[in-house]
Amino acid sequence: MKLVHTIAEIRTLSRSARTAGQTLGLVPTMGALHEGHLSLVRTAKAKADVVAATIFVNPTQFGPQEDFARYPRNLEADCAVLEREGVDYIFAPSTEEMYPSGSVTWVTVEGLSDRLCGKSRPGHFRGVTTVVSKLFHIVEPDIAFFGQKDAAQHAIIRRMVRDLNMAVHIEICPIVREPDGLAMSSRNAYLTAAERKSALVLHRSLMRVENLFRSGEQDSDKLIQAGRIEIASEPAVRLDYFEIVNPDTLEPTPKVSTPALVAVAAFVGKTRLIDNVVLGA
Ligand code: PAJ
Repeated sequence: MKLVHTIAEIRTLSRSARTAGQTLGLVPTMGALHEGHLSLVRTAKAKADVVAATIFVNPTQFGPQEDFARYPRNLEADCAVLEREGVDYIFAPSTEEMYPSGSVTWVTVEGLSDRLCGKSRPGHFRGVTTVVSKLFHIVEPDIAFFGQKDAAQHAIIRRMVRDLNMAVHIEICPIVREPDGLAMSSRNAYLTAAERKSALVLHRSLMRVENLFRSGEQDSDKLIQAGRIEIASEPAVRLDYFEIVNPDTLEPTPKVSTPALVAVAAFVGKTRLIDNVVLGA
């Protein structure tokens, strides 16, 4: 396993892998790795000859009042985990390396970037698509791996790749959960024991909606209402959004007749968590 910090170094490594005829898999992360990230790494190992993971807490996807400064960072522990998983290269650049002063160019997926988390976190997805397209240009992977946990993020990245003819295949990996249902997230580390219990209501609300759908309910308003009621049963949790949308366009769907994404975001104390389920897939 090789840890590199500069664009020049990771470029040399990824180019020589490709020259040797090997396929290259990329797993972009912000570190503070958990089993959700590792599931991406394992899938990448199974599908590509050489695997590069990136660890970069990307400042441009955080709002001014958000948790950029206190986001968990532990490069040493992350590298040890990735080495055990057999990752070939880790690219962990500094902010200056990724955004030299004077950077003014952005990649924006219009429309989609203002939906779901984009509505409550203005500029968030612009930061994500800008850094992900930079990583694609730097590493030039054959396949890049993303998690279903961030369903809007991967819809927006898939659209960016399509619209800009990027020569990378996007692979989506299922949500990894704790045994009690909580979706794994680096931000779960912020939760107190009491908040950790309250946070279970996100998954519970999605299960309630899924059960209702399975018993025949297709009307999105009714399904959303049931989800909202479940969230409201937990006073420590403040709902941000509960929506049912098309998984590709992120536009609301009034009726669940084709696959639909049920997405929830809520604050548990100060911590904002997201989760989702796809109905009718
Ligand atoms: P981060 O939150 O570190 O997540 C990195 C990748 O891991 C994302 O594709 C995310 O969807 C996936 N992931 C996180 N939790 C997961 C879980 N419980 N199950 C399955 N996959 C999970 O997402 C980002 O970083 C950033 O926005 C990034 C794409 C790296 C751009 O900065």
